[in-house]
Amino acid sequence: MTNSETKATLSFSDGSPALEMPIYKGSIGPDVIDIRKLYGSTGMFTYDPGFMSTAACNSSITYIDGDKGELLYRGYPIEQLAVNGGDFLETCYLLLNGELPNADQKKEFVATVTNHTMVHEQMQFFFRGFRRDAHPMSVLVGTVGALASFYHDSLDINDPHHREVSAIRLIAKMPTLVAMAYKYSIGQPFVYPRNDLSYSANFMHMMFSTPCEPYKTNEVLVRALDRILILHADHEQNASTSTVRLAGSSGANPFACIAAGIACLWGPAHGGANEAALSMLEEIGSVDNIPNFIAQVKDKNSGVKLMGFGHRVYKNYDPRAKLMRETCYEVLQELGLQDDPLFKLAMALEKIALEDEYFVSRKLYPNVDFYSGIVQRALGIPTALFTGIFALARTVGWIAQWKEMISDPEQKIGRPRQLFVGAAKRDVPPIDKR
Ligand code: CMC
Repeated sequence: MTNSETKATLSFSDGSPALEMPIYKGSIGPDVIDIRKLYGSTGMFTYDPGFMSTAACNSSITYIDGDKGELLYRGYPIEQLAVNGGDFLETCYLLLNGELPNADQKKEFVATVTNHTMVHEQMQFFFRGFRRDAHPMSVLVGTVGALASFYHDSLDINDPHHREVSAIRLIAKMPTLVAMAYKYSIGQPFVYPRNDLSYSANFMHMMFSTPCEPYKTNEVLVRALDRILILHADHEQNASTSTVRLAGSSGANPFACIAAGIACLWGPAHGGANEAALSMLEEIGSVDNIPNFIAQVKDKNSGVKLMGFGHRVYKNYDPRAKLMRETCYEVLQELGLQDDPLFKLAMALEKIALEDEYFVSRKLYPNVDFYSGIVQRALGIPTALFTGIFALARTVGWIAQWKEMISDPEQKIGRPRQLFVGAAKRDVPPIDKR
């Protein structure tokens, strides 16, 4: 970040002295005004619920241009990474290290991740403590947090080697834990990882193999899963990433921080949207019901939203949605499901929404979740696990952001302020006077 020649001046209509504040320039994107001296100089805070105008950190990992509908990982457009950028583990390497790996680096990275795919055998007892019908996200919050009790040898956040080992462990073990959550929910035995398979193929093996029948991997489906993982790998300072950073700012260990991120991701306005989008399509049921549903969405009192539409940052078509739409066609074609009624319904709904004044004027476009649910369903992943797949993909983004924060000399414990509007100081009355 560099200092701009321009300064910002904050003046007050009551004649209090004005405050001059530096402006910093990033490599791309909006400049920021440094308000750190504001409280010390004026005794005032800024008010910004939802962080609509607040940059809480500087970062060199992911950049989104919401107006253009552009997403860059370490400068590379998501379209290029998804189409020509190799597999998900290459994206992981890029997010963690800042550069794409060469052939030797890739080989070594894959071998290291692969070496950590198994979880401690004791982990199965954590799973057995859950009800079989528990939501997989609650199981993942618990089991990922529990990893901290197994891997004491990588918990020193001030040791770069420990941070690296924790990062690899989390990336390697998430597929195993997500697949275990699924197997537990359907009462099948846990399936151990197979290290001769690729990251995505191994995940499908752990999900769909049984001791009686091995799962035959299908290249098109494995590629589709890999693309889902690449598209969801990081997304700048969204709610769950900010949660991971805030949890980590206190010095909490990485497993606890990622568990906090998973908890945040679970919400329907964030990672839970793919599950909600598919449930919405199922509820609408047929193309004939779309006008009625759109009318409900427009009625502010109904509380109904068009799930999979709209985004805090994208005010244009989400670039991930375009790629996911393409994958959706490929997968449905491979499985002979071109006439899938839910996909047809989604296409019709998208067309109507994109032409409707309500959505056009608010710049509401489909986001990645509008299509990812249909793809995941076609891959055989149950709806309740969709957000778990998102968590699996986002783990690398969370951990890259966490590592970046820990090594940032400007990092401080996160401590937002408030505008207090409650009762002023008062005395406790005796119980008979209340
Ligand atoms: N359906 C209907 N109206 C909507 C929607 C929607 N999906 N999204 C926003 N609006 C309306 C909203 O009511 C408001 O209207 P008005 O100006 O008349 O009050 C206007 O559009 C602006 O919305 P906002 O609530 O200020 O936007 P936001 O930036 O706070 O919310 C959002 C972003 C993603 C929470 C919201 O668009 C939403 O709830 N979408 C549905 C859930 C969803 O698909 N989430 C997945 C996001 S992508 C995955 C990820 O990155 O996590």
